Amino acid sequence: AFVVTENCIKCKYQDCVEVCPVDCFYEGPNFLVIHPDECIDCALCEPECPAGAIFSEDEVPADQKEFIKLNAELAEVWPNITEIGEQPADRKEWDGVKGKLQYLER
Ligand code: SF4
Ligand code: F3S
Repeated sequence: AFVVTENCIKCKYQDCVEVCPVDCFYEGPNFLVIHPDECIDCALCEPECPAGAIFSEDEVPADQKEFIKLNAELAEVWPNITEIGEQPADRKEWDGVKGKLQYLER
């Protein structure tokens, strides 16, 4: 499966949901996750993310590995999202900021 990692937090561009053929994105207040059992590994979402936050599970950077479990966990509790909605006004300021996991809202 593909995995959404830290740089999505507070950026939440949502371009990814527009291209997913199986609608397997789930939405939290300031982050999106992919349901690992529903993702068909089509790879379409990866180049669409302006934040470069999406990786194939086997290519997730070493310091982002905890997001594999986090995607699986949160996809079970957050609602499905199939269309791009409102983007955070300050998304560009947060793009690339390190250590954003502390700001994850559930
Ligand atoms: Fe959806 Fe394809 Fe991305 Fe998986 S890899 S989340 S199926 S767009
Ligand atoms: Fe997040 Fe990138 Fe999608 S910032 S919402 S994974 S387009």
